[in-house]
Amino acid sequence: MITALRGMKDILPPRSELFELIANTCEQVAKKYGYQAIQTPHLEATSLFRRSVGESSDIVGKEMYEFKDKGGNDVCLRPEGTAGVVRAFIEAKLDRAGGVHRWCYTGSMFRYERPQRGRLREFHQFGIECFNEPSVYEDASVIMIAYEILKSLGIKTKLKLNSLGSSDDMAAYKTKLLSFINANESQICPDCQRRKDTNPIRVLDCKVEKCQQIYANAPLISDSLGDEARGDFNKLCQILNDNKIEFELDFRLVRGLDYYCKTAFEFVSDEIGAQSAVAGGGRYDRLVEYLGGKASYGVGFAMGIERIMEILSSRDAPAQPKGIYLGALDDENVNYLFSLANSLRQAGFVVELEYKSKKLAKHLQTANAKGFLWVGCIGENELANETIWLKNLKLGVEKTPKISELIKELNDE
Ligand code: HAM
Repeated sequence: MITALRGMKDILPPRSELFELIANTCEQVAKKYGYQAIQTPHLEATSLFRRSVGESSDIVGKEMYEFKDKGGNDVCLRPEGTAGVVRAFIEAKLDRAGGVHRWCYTGSMFRYERPQRGRLREFHQFGIECFNEPSVYEDASVIMIAYEILKSLGIKTKLKLNSLGSSDDMAAYKTKLLSFINANESQICPDCQRRKDTNPIRVLDCKVEKCQQIYANAPLISDSLGDEARGDFNKLCQILNDNKIEFELDFRLVRGLDYYCKTAFEFVSDEIGAQSAVAGGGRYDRLVEYLGGKASYGVGFAMGIERIMEILSSRDAPAQPKGIYLGALDDENVNYLFSLANSLRQAGFVVELEYKSKKLAKHLQTANAKGFLWVGCIGENELANETIWLKNLKLGVEKTPKISELIKELNDE
């Protein structure tokens, strides 16, 4: 038997309904803030991610699905959404046209990681990106969108917030951090010794406990912020406080991708084991220029849909019964029910029609097992009297209304 690849999962019903619910909630919330849905390709030039996410990141260094296509081009499956969206923004010349653009997307991302709970090799993100808006109010809106999505899905998380400063602030910080790392070089792990040369801030993400103990005394980026970044960060904290969004300052939060500056944030949950981040994002004001466009501001976040599914499916929320199951008691009535099903669907009802005639008890059993709210059956008598035998499975009430009254009956529930 050929099975799905390791770390790649089918999403079948009823989980697919949960996926849909999450994706729809994300889009509905983002649209209220003026975000419009876009699509970009799954396959992009590898250089796009090398330049944006950064050579020093684990994503580019270890996790990309990279290969040569039949034309000899170096391509890879997108490990994240932002870089492709920025490329599309530049390619459509919107960096030159000016104006604020707010976009959102839902789709597969690919990272060759070691699969475990909440960590897949193909996973789905919902993400938003806003271009050309320097105001810190947009940073607050971006955070509030993620907050509102998680709240409407009933997910409890902690919001962690940091500022990574301007490029000058970051350069000054890296110098300080590097001298700290050099002073402790003999005690840190080989990965950190490599990170120190590629991008020293990556050491702060190291999961090795010994390294973590050492970095507990490392200098903090918050001590290297210039006036502008500090002012924006204070303002952002104030807006969040004013709007009752709780957060924790985490001066060690540096994010795993290189393109961020100023605002950086993550929503974490303790319901998915070690994979605690359900969403992450921040500002990336240098990225458009870095990818060859005209300097334009950028801010956004992405949320892991499977991680949210993991949290929601570990709770046993009873499925809401829905729609109507129709069944015929005699073969001759199937044709009649087929037309009835069609007119109910036109009226907006979810209808499942059993094409085989069966005894009433069998139809009831199937409708119950499938979680329908209503079951409607037609036999010889009902056909002759233009009625339908109808049962509300939630209330246990049975009736035999006229067919002409059926829609009203279903709507009255
Ligand atoms: P990220 O933090 O790499 O950010 O990913 C965002 C979210 O994707 C994570 O918080 C997590 O929920 C989910 N995720 C990441 N890796 C996996 C995995 N292997 N399996 C399951 N879920 C995963 C970004 O991707 C940035 N592009 C976010 C962004 C948008 N920043 C600005 N705009």
